[in-house]
Amino acid sequence: MKLWGQIIWTLLSGPQGRRRAPQGWAFNLWKTYSSLAGLLSATGMVNHWTRVFEERGIPEARESSEYIVAHVLGAKTFQSLRPALWTKPLTLQQLECIQELCSHRLQRMPVQYILGEWDFQGLNLKMVPPVFIPRPETEELVEWVLEEVAQRPSEVKAQDGPLILEVGCGSGAIALSLLSQLPKSQVIAVDKEEAAVSLTQENAQRLQLQDRIRIIRLDITSDKCRTHLLPWGPMDLVVSNPPYVFHKDMEQLAPEICSYEDLVALDGGDEGMDVITHILTLAPQLLNASGSIFLEVDPRHPELVSSWLQSQPDLHLSLVGVREDFCGRPRFLHIQKSVPSVAAL
Ligand SMILES: C[S@@+](CC[C@H](N)C(=O)[O-])C[C@H]1O[C@@H](n2cnc3c(N)ncnc32)[C@H](O)[C@@H]1O
Repeated sequence: MKLWGQIIWTLLSGPQGRRRAPQGWAFNLWKTYSSLAGLLSATGMVNHWTRVFEERGIPEARESSEYIVAHVLGAKTFQSLRPALWTKPLTLQQLECIQELCSHRLQRMPVQYILGEWDFQGLNLKMVPPVFIPRPETEELVEWVLEEVAQRPSEVKAQDGPLILEVGCGSGAIALSLLSQLPKSQVIAVDKEEAAVSLTQENAQRLQLQDRIRIIRLDITSDKCRTHLLPWGPMDLVVSNPPYVFHKDMEQLAPEICSYEDLVALDGGDEGMDVITHILTLAPQLLNASGSIFLEVDPRHPELVSSWLQSQPDLHLSLVGVREDFCGRPRFLHIQKSVPSVAAL
């Protein structure tokens, strides 16, 4: 059994491993796969590619190979495949498809782009590089917004709404999951990148949520932004997972991020506050009297945002809540518009 595994390993990887010459690669692979079709199972391929990924230092080696093999067999996860498919020999076409997708992973392409889709809050979203891939912690931001909306007085809940502005919609993950879980809500989703605007539009159509969302290409730092957004208001909520990485930290990002994701989605300037301060400056004019802002930020931001808000009393915004992510880091902010008292005017 060990020897058989070694023969297959050698056939698939080549005797020189990573030093194998690229010439004649496609022809050799075709020969290799023709001879292995009907012999290798899904489990065999997962084990094989896990070893290759580990050898080449690819992160999340097993998860990557499991997702790719499951995807080729029409499932979302390897565990959700019918057990009979784990051991059933794969066809030549399936082997070639797995090889093709795994070769992208060897180039450090994120699995989400390789599969072309990813789930967020139970919604299946199309993923296309370089549009930012939604991260699991952002689901916690969405859950916090949903909790706050659920706590609104019943007479408010009976009305239409809430009307939500999302700044930096990316693939549409936040906007579309709020729309799908709040049936009376409406969202204005803005992003400065055309690729993000088109992907949000496509995902809204896929999920049949296009009637309650308005997607606008807009740079939140631009002068025309206020004039564009005012007619849509007043808003109940502003939600954003803005670019918040400190510029000096950008060089530490993994190759998966640097080579494939739009860095505009991440780089928040010197202290990661460039887009955050624009959102906070604009929000009071767009929000209704009791409106709220929910932001995903870096763990250093709760303190920075709090002191920035204190330096801007005219905005009448207060940081009323900070939440931790699943790693225990303070990552989410709830900022409320506070109507100034008559005495303060
Ligand atoms: C971290 S990504 C978040 C994407 C999506 N909301 C999510 O959570 O998956 C930030 C997004 O903000 C957009 N963005 C960056 N700067 C912006 C600006 N000045 N105005 C509007 N959108 C901006 C980027 O194009 C990117 O799509």
